Amino acid sequence: MKIRKAVITAAGWGTRFLPATKAQPKETLPLVDKPMIQYVVEEAVASGIEQIIIVTAHGKRAIEDYFDRSFELEQVLEQKGEEKLLREIRRISELADVCYIRQKEQLGLGHAIMITEALVGKEPFAVFLPDDIIDSHVPAMKQMIGVFERFGASVVAVEKVSRETIRSYGVVEPERVDHRVYRALSLVEKPSAAEAPSNLGIVGRYILTPDIFKSLRSVKPGAGGEIQITDGLTHLLKRQPIYAYEFEGVRYDAGTPLGFLKASVGLALRNPEVAPGLKEYLRELSTRDFKPPGKLLP
Ligand code: G1P
Repeated sequence: MKIRKAVITAAGWGTRFLPATKAQPKETLPLVDKPMIQYVVEEAVASGIEQIIIVTAHGKRAIEDYFDRSFELEQVLEQKGEEKLLREIRRISELADVCYIRQKEQLGLGHAIMITEALVGKEPFAVFLPDDIIDSHVPAMKQMIGVFERFGASVVAVEKVSRETIRSYGVVEPERVDHRVYRALSLVEKPSAAEAPSNLGIVGRYILTPDIFKSLRSVKPGAGGEIQITDGLTHLLKRQPIYAYEFEGVRYDAGTPLGFLKASVGLALRNPEVAPGLKEYLRELSTRDFKPPGKLLP
């Protein structure tokens, strides 16, 4: 069955990025020249997704405005003869067929996905977490759709993560079935390094069968007191297989200040408009002697 719909979860508080996210949705922070969420919308469209469901919450109106048309702005650009900008602004509002649902209480990622049931219906669907940005030749979701088509079961994206960071991830106990493909034997959310069943951390891309909704309804709050998608998957695993796919590409966790900086630099170095100037600046920086704050003056 074709994957036609995608859910993008954008309802979180952005606590890892406060205070920058106090009055601005994390998903609208710009990476190089466009908001973070546009990268995942473009990945979805490039993977053949036709309809996008964005889960928002209080304080996230800027996301809806961004993908909507802005007739006033278009008029101003038209009057100024800014043809290129005008085309770009229109392109953004025509990128995809987007609809929105609000998560009234932030009860967890699993809960955010659960409330999309009526919009998704009874078909397999994709899920994107917008602070995981994946830079790849073939869009990561398109790679995952290939795995879904082959095995006909839910697929989670994974990558090898360090012992020090494993506590931030859902982790898969894998049984290798092919190059980059594993069958999940179990899944655990945010384990300690000692408890982790492998070093394969789940990254924010999922293809889920609609049976996940029933599983999510039956799970109790888990790590952090939240309804976790990983716990929903553990429940689903009792009824059907789940695969883990180690995607090809570079993934950035743009949800923290350091990860966001890495994403900005990594993506900018691939952007022909800014890469030459940035490379020059990085060379210049590497020759400078940085001292901790407060010690800059002699
Ligand atoms: C969520 C998921 C986790 C996954 C991670 C990937 O956690 O619950 O399983 O590994 O995204 O980014 P969060 O980062 O929202 O705490």
